[in-house]
Amino acid sequence: MFYKEPKPFPSDFLWGASTSSYQVEGAWNEDGKGMSVQDLHTPPAGITDFKIASDHYHHMEEDVALMAELGLKAYRFSISWSRVIPQGDGEVNEAGLAFYDRLADALIAHGITPVATMFHFDLPLALHERGGWANRATVDAFERYARVLFERLGDRIKMWLTINEQNVMVIHPNAMNPGRLPEAPELYQQSHNMFVASAKATLMLHEMWPDAKIGPAPNITAIYPQSCDPADVVAADNWESIRCWNYLDVACFGRYNPIAWAYMEEKGCTPVFGKGDAELLAAAKPDYLGVNYYATATVAAPKNDGTDRTARAGDQQVMLGEEGVYRSGTNDHLTATEYGWIIDPIGMRTTLRRVASRYGLPILITENGLGARDTLEADGHVHDPYRIDYLRRHFEQAQLAISDGVNLIGYCPWSFMDLVSTHQGYGKRYGFVYIDRDEEDIRSMARIPKDSFTWYKHVVETNGAEL
Ligand code: BG6
Repeated sequence: MFYKEPKPFPSDFLWGASTSSYQVEGAWNEDGKGMSVQDLHTPPAGITDFKIASDHYHHMEEDVALMAELGLKAYRFSISWSRVIPQGDGEVNEAGLAFYDRLADALIAHGITPVATMFHFDLPLALHERGGWANRATVDAFERYARVLFERLGDRIKMWLTINEQNVMVIHPNAMNPGRLPEAPELYQQSHNMFVASAKATLMLHEMWPDAKIGPAPNITAIYPQSCDPADVVAADNWESIRCWNYLDVACFGRYNPIAWAYMEEKGCTPVFGKGDAELLAAAKPDYLGVNYYATATVAAPKNDGTDRTARAGDQQVMLGEEGVYRSGTNDHLTATEYGWIIDPIGMRTTLRRVASRYGLPILITENGLGARDTLEADGHVHDPYRIDYLRRHFEQAQLAISDGVNLIGYCPWSFMDLVSTHQGYGKRYGFVYIDRDEEDIRSMARIPKDSFTWYKHVVETNGAEL
């Protein structure tokens, strides 16, 4: 659709930014925090682990002051479960809760809406050792954790996200499973238990704080067919249903996506439902949807001859193909980042339109951004015109999606400050704020606003009228 004039961003649009606990906080073993699976992360030589990260735990007030200077309307962060309940389901750690208390207070004092993710890849190690999400007891532990969070923080935090990228944890399980990669039946049972845990938290929040809002935050992306060959179209539909829609269908409609379910039956990995699960999933309704969007993918019909899966390494955005389901394709219309992630701003508009048409709920972009090797120049600045260009082009498409009728309530680029990437350590930077450290050398840890910070500040000031 072409518009003579795109609609303006709504006046209460949540211009925000995102992070996650284990990627920024550091202080991995301080003030009573228990270990999470991420504390076992053993990166390749020359790549940092998550122990110090951006040391946000010790710089929180300074970081929030910078958020205020930037003009953020919202800050999306995650709460470290093992900081709050060190063993996952045992005693509550008052010092850990107090950190999030102070964070919520500091944000509110600066007029920044806190958006809290309850779980972002950092399962308490004690729960992991007892079977993790495949063990139904983890659902009970999450329910208790949710109650602790809502009782303590629910008076101030009114926007919650249950689980970050549940779909990535299934299709790309090495984001969260140190050591052993579970097989598909276990992964889909983990996923089912996460659906149940989210549903319980959703119902609980609605009962405890009727004025609060909660939703999931999967990684969603439009999947393109390699050509108009109908077989390619079916393959794209396969992968979009299995990778994306299934996660929003269960959250919004309370039932599995039929194509994804047929896939699970074919692969022998349908999950076991506990008593009452179906009713619970049907009863819990999200108020809004978090969408992490980075890149579209293009796929072709599978050949089903043992060659559909490529040998190259994949990650959350690099599709590998799956026997009998889809083959990874190419898209000559698009370029990629130096890390191989496709850059597709128009694809974000398509993704948002599809999500809006299917679910009819408000959408918050909970992640989108460009990972790059930024450098601190001799002039003391970080010049990142490529990030400005990337975000500008995505914001333009967000505005077109709004013009299309998508109820987009906010946009939280990844990430507020530089942080440890899930795979590429500190070299792959996403932030508006540069942190003065590298992989091995914890330099001054000074916070240095990049050029993109100044640009984004102006975008927020003009409510997106000047991009
Ligand atoms: C998302 C995750 O998949 O992508 C974040 O929710 C992650 O935790 C982000 O950092 C960017 O990915 P990466 O691998 O570049 O850190």
